[in-house]
Amino acid sequence: MMPVAPVESIASLSSDLFYDILRRLDGPTLASVACTCAAFCSISKEESLWENVCSSMWPSTNREDVKNLISSIGGFRKFYADCFPLIVSKEFTEYQWNNYLEYPEDWTEAEYYGDMNESESISPSDFVSIVDIRYKEKPICSKVLWGIPNANGFNGWFYNCPFRIDLLTYADRDDNNDGVVTLSVSDGLPPITSMERERKDGKLWRELRDGLQLSWIVVNRKIKQAANLASWSPLGGQRHWPTDKDFVIRFGSVLPAKDILPCQVVECILLMKFRVIHTEEEGVQTTLKLTELSMQLEDMEGAHVNGRNSLLILKEALSCRRSKNYSEVLESCHMYSKVQNELKEEKMRNENRLDRLCILSGIAAFMTFWYCVL
Ligand SMILES: *[C@@H]1O[C@H](CO)[C@@H](O)[C@H](O)[C@H]1NC(C)=O
Ligand SMILES: *[C@@H]1O[C@H](CO)[C@@H](O)[C@H](O)[C@H]1NC(C)=O
Repeated sequence: MMPVAPVESIASLSSDLFYDILRRLDGPTLASVACTCAAFCSISKEESLWENVCSSMWPSTNREDVKNLISSIGGFRKFYADCFPLIVSKEFTEYQWNNYLEYPEDWTEAEYYGDMNESESISPSDFVSIVDIRYKEKPICSKVLWGIPNANGFNGWFYNCPFRIDLLTYADRDDNNDGVVTLSVSDGLPPITSMERERKDGKLWRELRDGLQLSWIVVNRKIKQAANLASWSPLGGQRHWPTDKDFVIRFGSVLPAKDILPCQVVECILLMKFRVIHTEEEGVQTTLKLTELSMQLEDMEGAHVNGRNSLLILKEALSCRRSKNYSEVLESCHMYSKVQNELKEEKMRNENRLDRLCILSGIAAFMTFWYCVL
């Protein structure tokens, strides 16, 4: 008679098998499988599964310091659930123009500049940026930045000046440094024979824009929260700026700024800049170099948000609404741009009207003058 395996070992065998199956799934599938049956459900709670998922989604989470950080803020499963869906905020759609053209008069100084006490309790050193860039699905760059550069050097300076995080240090831009991030034909870039040609057909530009993906996760260690502030795929860009060989690609999100700024929402702008350093005519394969990777916040009128308010907004953003519906996310970003453009046009029209009025009154004054003289 064949010995019958005890029930426990069958269960453990099958759970190993489950584990093996689950290990091969990506995040969204794993999350949906987790709800289907009790056995899957308990196994899918295992951190190591989620650690796998996170490390394939965000290679930067392989670093020891980042692993420790993630464990200290609630683990990989929570990290994935917080950072995979993207932030959606639509407050601006209900907005009336004239309401935010001017700061309300009844705002106190503390409201206008942000509450000093609250901002002092948010320390720039509590923030960590975890950034990954992919090109055509392949990771090309991972960077982790603890704290916010220049936030502590000059007292008070940071809080009142336009907020900006630069991920590339001076050394990262130096060609002799190992940290330089390049993209070349071997990464799937199309070879271009000359800049002349590229200016005409824009092939490199198109493939760059369609192939790049950015994830920029911000973690606050004190409040133990995290969110992804990037849009994965680009929201826009600019060819040949500021020079012929530069390409600027813009990612980002719309963040709520309720009770922080009168405009209620701001745009988090993530800029990536690449420069062409070789074309095929130079006898080397086409190569681009990453020359900028930065974050800034801009209000509805395009003004940069200062350090104090930016910290408040970032902190709030880590706990605001997110969506797994990617088209909803993109729609809200495009809607924001549309509203912002309409606002700009409206402002321009008002200014033109004012200009015309000035000219008319100038002519009137001139004519009155001559009328009196004659
Ligand atoms: C900060 O908080 C203290 C008490 O905690 C209070 O006395 C002070 O007025 C507050 N300052 C501001 C600018 O709100
Ligand atoms: C996703 O969002 C779009 C746009 O807001 C909407 O039309 C669509 O129904 C949503 N899809 C799902 C599955 O919720």
